[in-house]
Amino acid sequence: MLVKEIKELRSLIKAWKREGFTVGFVPTMGSLHEGHESLIKKAVSENDKVVVSVFVNPTQFGPNEDYDSYPRDIDKDLTLCMNAGASVVFNPISKEMYFDNKSTGVSVSGLTSVLCGAKRPGHFDGVCLVVSKFLNIVTPDKAYFGQKDAQQVAVIKRMVRDLNIDVEIVTCPIIREEDGLAKSSRNIYLSDEERKAALVLSRSLSLARKEIKNREKSVGKIRNIIKKEITKEPLAKIDYVEIVDSESLENVENIEKSVLVAIAVFIGKIRLIDNFIF
Ligand code: PAJ
Repeated sequence: MLVKEIKELRSLIKAWKREGFTVGFVPTMGSLHEGHESLIKKAVSENDKVVVSVFVNPTQFGPNEDYDSYPRDIDKDLTLCMNAGASVVFNPISKEMYFDNKSTGVSVSGLTSVLCGAKRPGHFDGVCLVVSKFLNIVTPDKAYFGQKDAQQVAVIKRMVRDLNIDVEIVTCPIIREEDGLAKSSRNIYLSDEERKAALVLSRSLSLARKEIKNREKSVGKIRNIIKKEITKEPLAKIDYVEIVDSESLENVENIEKSVLVAIAVFIGKIRLIDNFIF
């Protein structure tokens, strides 16, 4: 079932809650693939009702980013959601989500000044604003996020803690293509040649994981291994290669506790991200 109005969604959810149903929530920007589907299926397995939001959120795109060209196909998304067992797809119009004279923002400091946050100023303010609005509208018991966007998960968890939002944040593993490329709505932009080149992301991370497994502790050495591998690929340009504490996202020099190894790489004009936690 497709719902476009906040009012309609709220009354549906109130009725569910009166019946004692638990509610799971999966926020997305649409153009759904098996990565999103895995979140929806997990939510369906853990809740009586599941709401999937499909909303290309304007406030999280920078002026030179791909907001206008971001792929949109609500009919296909609706079918995928219903087949995966979702109860409702919430596809609000921008006007209902954002007032022209809105004056409230949500921003998480520290965690957002590194990795993608450093490269995409304002991005996480937009993410936090829209996710907090959705959490207020849907009031879910659990909300599902992918490890694919590792920094997003860390930031959302911090926001939910700091604002005492009554929701459990569930993190789901990265879903990949058979050859290792992390699934992404942006992969469809890649030409055949770029698609092959894009494998350098997962390949370089595999090399790093092997080294860490072999007890290499030096962050500097691991970063160099990743950088060297990416540099071999002519179509690839490194945006960042970082190894940080997996919770605080602060820099570490040696691998002692759980670390997040995260990379962002331009393949041609397309910026792709990938990561693993060790
Ligand atoms: P979007 O990029 O559509 O992603 C929606 C959710 O799907 C995110 O939690 C993301 O981490 C997860 N996801 C995407 N690809 C995945 C993959 N290959 N494996 C596992 N999970 C994957 O992230 C956003 O939208 C937005 O920032 C949003 C949270 C909806 C706020 O606008």
